[in-house]
Amino acid sequence: MKYGSFDDDRREYVIHTPYTPLPWINYLGNKDFFSLISNTGGGYSFYRDAKLRRITRYRYNNAPGDSGGRLYYINDGGNLWSPAFLPLKTPLDSYCCRHGMGYTLFESRKNGLSASLLCFVPLDEPCEINRLTLINQTDLPKTVRLTACVEWCLWNAVDDANNFQRNYSTGELEQEDSVIYHKTEYRERRNHYAYYAVNCDTTGYDTDRDTFLGRFNGYDAPDSVMHVCSADRVSHGWAPIAAHHISLTLQPGEVRSLVYVLGYAELDKEDKWQQLNVINKSPAKALLERFNTSEKTDEALKRLNAYWNGLLERFTVISGDEKLNRMVNIWNPYQCMVTFNLSRSASYFESGTGRGMGFRDSCQDILGFVHLVPERARQRILDIAAIQLSDGSAWHQYQPLTKQGNADVGGGFNDDPLWLVASVYAYIAETGDASILEEPVPFDTVPGTEASLFEHLRRSVQYTLSHLGPHGLPLIGRADWNDCLNLNCFSEEPGESFQTTANYESGIAESVFIAAMFVLYAGRYAKICDRYGDPEEAAVIREAVETMKAKVLEHGWDGEWFLRAYDAFGAKVGSNECEEGKIYIEPQGFCVLAGIGIDGKHAQKALASVRVHLAGEFGISLLWPCYSVYHKELGEVSSYPPGYKENGGIFCHNNPWISIAEAVTGNAWDAYEAYRRICPAYLEEMSDTHRTEPYVYSQMIAGQEAPTPGEAKNSWLTGTAAWTFTSISQYILGIRPSYDGLQIDPCIPSDMKGFKVTRKFRGVTYNITVDNSAAVEKGVKAITVNGNDINGNILPLGDDKVCDVKVVMG
Ligand code: BGC
Ligand code: NOJ
Repeated sequence: MKYGSFDDDRREYVIHTPYTPLPWINYLGNKDFFSLISNTGGGYSFYRDAKLRRITRYRYNNAPGDSGGRLYYINDGGNLWSPAFLPLKTPLDSYCCRHGMGYTLFESRKNGLSASLLCFVPLDEPCEINRLTLINQTDLPKTVRLTACVEWCLWNAVDDANNFQRNYSTGELEQEDSVIYHKTEYRERRNHYAYYAVNCDTTGYDTDRDTFLGRFNGYDAPDSVMHVCSADRVSHGWAPIAAHHISLTLQPGEVRSLVYVLGYAELDKEDKWQQLNVINKSPAKALLERFNTSEKTDEALKRLNAYWNGLLERFTVISGDEKLNRMVNIWNPYQCMVTFNLSRSASYFESGTGRGMGFRDSCQDILGFVHLVPERARQRILDIAAIQLSDGSAWHQYQPLTKQGNADVGGGFNDDPLWLVASVYAYIAETGDASILEEPVPFDTVPGTEASLFEHLRRSVQYTLSHLGPHGLPLIGRADWNDCLNLNCFSEEPGESFQTTANYESGIAESVFIAAMFVLYAGRYAKICDRYGDPEEAAVIREAVETMKAKVLEHGWDGEWFLRAYDAFGAKVGSNECEEGKIYIEPQGFCVLAGIGIDGKHAQKALASVRVHLAGEFGISLLWPCYSVYHKELGEVSSYPPGYKENGGIFCHNNPWISIAEAVTGNAWDAYEAYRRICPAYLEEMSDTHRTEPYVYSQMIAGQEAPTPGEAKNSWLTGTAAWTFTSISQYILGIRPSYDGLQIDPCIPSDMKGFKVTRKFRGVTYNITVDNSAAVEKGVKAITVNGNDINGNILPLGDDKVCDVKVVMG
């Protein structure tokens, strides 16, 4: 069962009905101004920080399911309908929603009136544009009353949803021409406001939600719309909104476009006021001037399209598999941009008020993003490194607005520091720009404490080495990648945080997963040392890596697979000896991809065990068997009902680790299968079961042991995006950035005859043709670059700006 279709030429997903199983959303905005937009126009906007600068209000976990956002009402001679279906819910004669690269377009029709509503955030502008075009397709004139409305959020989304005794008295607005300005708290400590405007005269306006709606009504039946009235006054306190009413007469065939702008403005403190208690409107007016015609919005949309063309050109594949092509060329990198921008902060599952930018999450997001806009990846790495502490540990999160470590969550997640190495390595391999290592970066954002980024990496690696447990494996701290494996928190109190309540500091719980990370990333750090100035350090670290490998094989091997951890009593976690949770996915993927046990039989055995115990129809589960009862010595992992989330759900993020591990050991078919099982484009036909958007990954798909296997949750903001892009581009298609140039090492099913990739890398365009007429799974027999044979499989960095690369597998 499908609810839409891919339009690859336009790079859109086209949704044919408002009745999708869940709201299917898109993101508008790339830098400062962001909006979430659902296929019925719901969602909200914020500036930089979804918690601290929320512009419009959204009610999570609400009934009915989706609300807020852009509220448009058409009253066509008594026929009331909304061009995005909500809020009015009137059945439409036709409806479609096209989610594209940074824009969403609704096209709908009712009684001979057609509407197209285009929503996007222009590049580098703090606003969302909504261009509504109406066409009278009948033979008679039509008189239409059009209402457009947004509901303001009082900036801090947490206070907005809490402190009503204050909030109901603080709301303040101004109205001038066809613009309604929201200026709550501007009189005192804020120097920013928002506004909602339309580029024509209005016949009336409303600024107070309860008057606009009337007593007992929702947004699906506002008094002002149903009874064609408006208050036409600026209100105070309560719930401020901005609603514009317009009357239009459309002759037969007439087309009318209106441009609505939701904007945000920030002023210097001295320039805040125009006169006493009247805000300085000049930045708003200047912006509105830039978008006051349909033509100007067209130009802005063209610039946005060109921007995305440029980004997506950086890696494209042509293969015989249409679904693979559309994921690699369009939707996977698109999702990588969104996760880079938002980390895990704001989605339809993340409230925007909980987590800001995650240290571990954002470092991993860079792996899938760095080839798109390396300069932004560079800055992000420096921002993240600045919340590292001088002992090498790190704050777990920071707020994007303040860039300060988030004290509520604190630190102590012992995997965090090593992810910094992962992102820096990826950045240098992509760009060759080692100057980043010399950038001065403070610790804990304290000015005066700056040390080079290189030094930060050293401390990351040292942190692991100085926190080893009784088996010589890394101490886990509050948790490692698996936030729910809380071996030092023995929680029995409802409401306590599994992660931050430290009530059983055993000092001995160890993580095999961090050991694998250490092997991989300390190994990469050693390469960085070799290259950029410290061969002695490199040698010392290499020895530590070898020791760690040996410790993993000695104490982290269970016989058929890698162990997961040792708990606070020194008991094994993820062992055949355990009654439940015998095998976990993370160490199987990460140990193998780090190269542990590749030479012996360990790697192949571990992956075979994954296939037997964890792999299923919908993907690879995190663990098996699921915990049926709560284990306080293990923590949150056992708090979830079996088959959900970390308790044996298919936690998509680590499926690509298995894919990579399979590719590293040469099992192309299993690598590709692991890729396809969770890949949304392949799941489109089963949208009824899967339920989330078929164009982006979700964090979790319910596992085999769950009551609803195959049902996905938590779409968009997941490390799955970056890791699947890494697995498919670098390990399956095998086009892998390295220090010395692009390495070509495909691992593809033998029935795949070949493929073409265009890759822009360090200023060179590589047009790569891979020929697999030999029908092998791995192995490169010959490579020519612009007609010349090369040795090995790394494309030498030369002067040619375009390189024609022929690869023969065999
Ligand atoms: C979730 C994890 C998540 C963590 C973040 C837990 O409840 O299960 O997936 O990483 O919260 O704090
Ligand atoms: C989601 C979190 O954002 C991520 O940091 C964590 O690794 C996974 N959940 C697994 O618990």
